[in-house]
Amino acid sequence: MAVPCVRVPTDRGEETRQALAARDLLDRRYEITAADESLYMPVTDPDAVPAEYEVVDRDVPARETQTTPADILGFSPSYERLGDIVILDEDDSSRARTVADAVVASDLRATTVVNRASKVSGELRVREWEVLIGESTETVHREYGHEFALDIAAVYFSPRLATERHRVIEQVEAGERALDMFAGVGPFAVPMAARGAEVVACDLNPVAVDYLRENARRNGVDDRVTAVEGDVRDLTDDYAGWADRLVMNLPHTAGEFLDTAVELAGEECVLHYYDIQHEDDPFGPGARAIREAAEPAYEVAVETERVVRSYAPHEHNVCLDVRLTER
Ligand SMILES: C[S@@+](CC[C@H](N)C(=O)[O-])C[C@H]1O[C@@H](n2cnc3c(N)ncnc32)[C@H](O)[C@@H]1O
Repeated sequence: MAVPCVRVPTDRGEETRQALAARDLLDRRYEITAADESLYMPVTDPDAVPAEYEVVDRDVPARETQTTPADILGFSPSYERLGDIVILDEDDSSRARTVADAVVASDLRATTVVNRASKVSGELRVREWEVLIGESTETVHREYGHEFALDIAAVYFSPRLATERHRVIEQVEAGERALDMFAGVGPFAVPMAARGAEVVACDLNPVAVDYLRENARRNGVDDRVTAVEGDVRDLTDDYAGWADRLVMNLPHTAGEFLDTAVELAGEECVLHYYDIQHEDDPFGPGARAIREAAEPAYEVAVETERVVRSYAPHEHNVCLDVRLTER
């Protein structure tokens, strides 16, 4: 089938392909073809092609496979997708630029490419980013059928935790009272409400709470989510003895909030406690801390011990599901 193509000499192929991809002009439904020392690059909008390029109609085959950054680079870079943002984890900034260009030239359809520029840090657990392609660090990410608007420069969000969040969310039953103590933009709170729970979700970060409210609306559960901005320790005034379920996803310092968790727990309450510990004893310190905070008022039963992911050499991010039953 004849489609509009940019024709360039073969030796200008890569530079031209990147220039067209950066303008989102490559028509990825068709193959780039070579003939007579020229390359023919199918374009989506011939009128938008810069005047320096020649546009011709040419018969080119439809594409059967997707081009990945690895196809272009010859090695497999590590990257994650968050909505239309592609996140790189490169130490070397010139290599990061090369990978970002390959992402744009590939079929990933990213509008923004960023590289990690710091660790997650501070009370709000936010990271700095080097923006390599595009401008906006705001996106809408889809996870297990729900949409989450967020700005990666202003809030915490990790797509790597999707499976773990889903594992917890599947335990939620309609009508229960679930309290997410460190809720971020709502990736636990919104799906828990969608399962019929009455949810209270708290976060210290005002931007995260704004997104949490927006995300509750976007997913049609704002009638079942109460979003609270502030320190979760202040929730005990209104919600002491309230929760059937508590989510504590603040791995480095959750232990400091166990007294608050016990105050918020109802007569019977399941606690999802996230921790980071050495591989030699990943669950012991968390279980001991929970017992110390909850006993003797509550009977403490550790129901699940789960390694969520490797965090650093010899260190694991773990979750304990713990049932607290008032004596
Ligand atoms: C690791 S993030 C988890 C966010 C969310 N649960 C998720 O899975 O994306 C921890 C969150 O706890 C919030 N936070 C930290 N200290 C807090 C406190 N004292 N009270 C309430 N939220 C707090 C941070 O702002 C951050 O959004």
